Parts: sequence; structure tokens; C-alpha cells
Amino acid sequence: QEHIDCDFERIDGFLTASDAEQEKIFGEEVTAIRHLGLQMDEMDEITVPGVNVGRVMRFHRQGTFNAGKYMVGLAHAVRRMGGQIFTGRVVEARGGRAPFIRTEDGAHVYAKYLVIATNTPINDRVTMHTKQAAYRSYVIGCAVDKGAFPGFLLWDLGDPYHYVRPVRSEGTDLVIIGGEDHKTGQANDAAARYRALESWARARIPQLGPVVYKWSGQIMEPVDSLAFIGKNPGEEHVYIATGDSGQGMTHGTIAGIVITDLIVRGRHPWADLYDPARKSVKTVGTYVGENVNAVGHMVGDWLKPAEVSSESEIAPGQGAIMRDGASKVAVYRDEDGGVHKCSAVCTHLGCVVQWNGGEKSWDCPCHGSRYDANGRVLNGPASAGLAPLDEEGRHVPSEGERPAAERRH
Ligand code: FES
Repeated sequence: QEHIDCDFERIDGFLTASDAEQEKIFGEEVTAIRHLGLQMDEMDEITVPGVNVGRVMRFHRQGTFNAGKYMVGLAHAVRRMGGQIFTGRVVEARGGRAPFIRTEDGAHVYAKYLVIATNTPINDRVTMHTKQAAYRSYVIGCAVDKGAFPGFLLWDLGDPYHYVRPVRSEGTDLVIIGGEDHKTGQANDAAARYRALESWARARIPQLGPVVYKWSGQIMEPVDSLAFIGKNPGEEHVYIATGDSGQGMTHGTIAGIVITDLIVRGRHPWADLYDPARKSVKTVGTYVGENVNAVGHMVGDWLKPAEVSSESEIAPGQGAIMRDGASKVAVYRDEDGGVHKCSAVCTHLGCVVQWNGGEKSWDCPCHGSRYDANGRVLNGPASAGLAPLDEEGRHVPSEGERPAAERRH
């Protein structure tokens, strides 16, 4: 409807198997896709010069577009229709009969309905966080000569998995290669992940040029692989969209359709399928496994020794967890040598955060909250920063905690 100029095009997508284990799943996928009657060709190889990935399934005419341009187009449409957009603020969300958002400056915004679409919900303390797990996913962008890489999508069945996407640009074209995921806060080896992506890609696509971009992002993996879109369990006026499983552009659009109808009409034919309160008996094993993993970190990380015994062992631009008696302290040394300390206790449910050297952030291994190097919250479910400490490791009261008389001075 909006005719957003976002480089949308239809190209073929190929699913491949990289080893014997994946070959087995590949066969099961072929059977399942045939059973569903979806359009697919099984091929011995992709017929593109130089590209070598072996047996593939081809899915015709998949949609691809530039997500950034698309989002800008949506933002223009929201404003034109009278909506307002505010960014760059940490907020808390509260449900109940009169739901509201409270900003870190103390302002309250009341609404008849709230839609919480914050990657992982920031309104819920426990329920939804037992049904999904946070993963960090890595991406590299390689330059390629114009026209040297024909446009197609590629993904494999590995664990961790890999995917390839073309990006057209004015000058050199780009190929994006992603994957090599791990649970958030449970690895600190970004450089090795980027190298693994590059060698996987170069073995299959020799025409790739140099790596010109690298970054990582956060993905929520629901226990049964399907997004949670609809009423927040137990709430009448709060809706959530989460558990995108790396398919956020598709699920975001589905969420816009389903939640709008649920609010306006009270129903939508897909609502039961995506219901955040659904139970999926088949995935009980995954559900238990993910929660045992979180509880293991909740308890085990408190018993671990300090990563360093002295601040002098922390290199500029890096962080480490130290002990102060029974307390755990997150210590960051900035590029100029200054030392910054915060409590290492995640403000969501109390796990111990871990340093992420690739993104220079403190990441929580339990449900994926993230904080910048100075402890300011970046990513929910936490909605408050790590408690700041002074050089001696003493708690520094926040503005709201200090007595009124002291604040006046
Ligand atoms: Fe839940 Fe940290 S994100 S305890």
C-alpha cells in the first residue's frame, strides 16, 4: 500500500546440507515439504559458476528487500497518519487495567492497549522467558565485483547454522554471510566466530572479496520455533510480539496483521497458532533443556572464581568479572585506562553478567539482557541498568535514591 522503495525483488532460495548429519535432516525436510504440497525442486547442485554447495532444495521467488529502507518507509507512514515515534529512552512497561509506560525520566504514558514488540518482552518477569532463549548471531559483509555473485539466498541445516544473502548497492555489491550463533552471555570468542563464517563462505563462494563489515545481533529462539504473537498470558490489554527465530521481518508483518485484528475485532484466524499462551507437548524436552541451562547459570556463575584478581590484568577496552567478598563486580577499563565498576548482578532475575569483547557489552547468560560497558541497559528483559559502584566498590546511589535535601545541593 505504501509503495516503499526498499529494493524488493523475487529471487530463488536454496537450502543445503553441509555434512552427513545435515543430509539426514535434509531428507526429512524433502518429505515434509512434499507432504505439505509446497513448491520446491530437488537439485544436485546450484548451477552458478564457481559456487559449490552440493545437493540443494530450490524455493522459487522468495522475497528479499533492504530492511533499513523498509523501516524508514514505515516510520514515514506512521507519522503521516498522525502517529508519534520516540526513541533513545529506557522505559518500563506495566500491564493491568490501566497499562502504562514509564520513562527513565519518570513520565507516565497511559494507553488502553500496549503492544510490546521489544525483541524480548520487557513487561514480563518470568513466564515468557521460560519459553524462549536468547542467542547472539554473527554476520560478515564481503565485497564482490558487480555482477560476480548472482542474486540468490542460501542457508544450511547446521547447528550453528549459516546463511547467505546478496545486497545490491551503487558501487560494489555485497554478500552477507551470517550464523555461528551461541547462547547470549555463554561465549566470548567473537573473532573466532567471524573467522568461521568467512572460511565456511569462501569454501563455497570463491568469488568473495574482502570482508568489509562485521557485526552481531540478538535472536530469540522459541522452544517450538514459532513466534509468540498475541495477548500477553494473563493480561487483557497488553499484547506481545517476540520469539522471531531469525525471521523478524516476516513475523513483524504477521504481528501487525494479527495484533491489529485482535484489538479492533477481538479475533484473527491465525491467533491460536501464534498464541503466547499455547502449549506444545512435542517440545517439552527443549523447554526443560533451555530452563535447566538458565538455572545452571543462575546458581553456577555465583560459585565461579573471579576472572582476574587485579584490575591491572584488564587490558584497555576490555572488561572482566572480579570478586569483592561475596559480591561479583563488573569491571571495565576504557581505552584511556580509566576503570569503571558496576554490580555484576543482572537487574532482571539476578544472574551474573559476562563480558562480550566483540560488542563491548555485559551480557546475561540467563535470558539475554545486555548492558553497555558502563552498565546502562541495552536489551531487555531487564529494564534498569547495572548498579554503579565507586572506585572502592561502594554502591553509588542513583538520583532517585538520594535524599531530597542532598539532591537540592
Ligand atoms: Fe534474566 Fe539476566 S536476563 S537474569
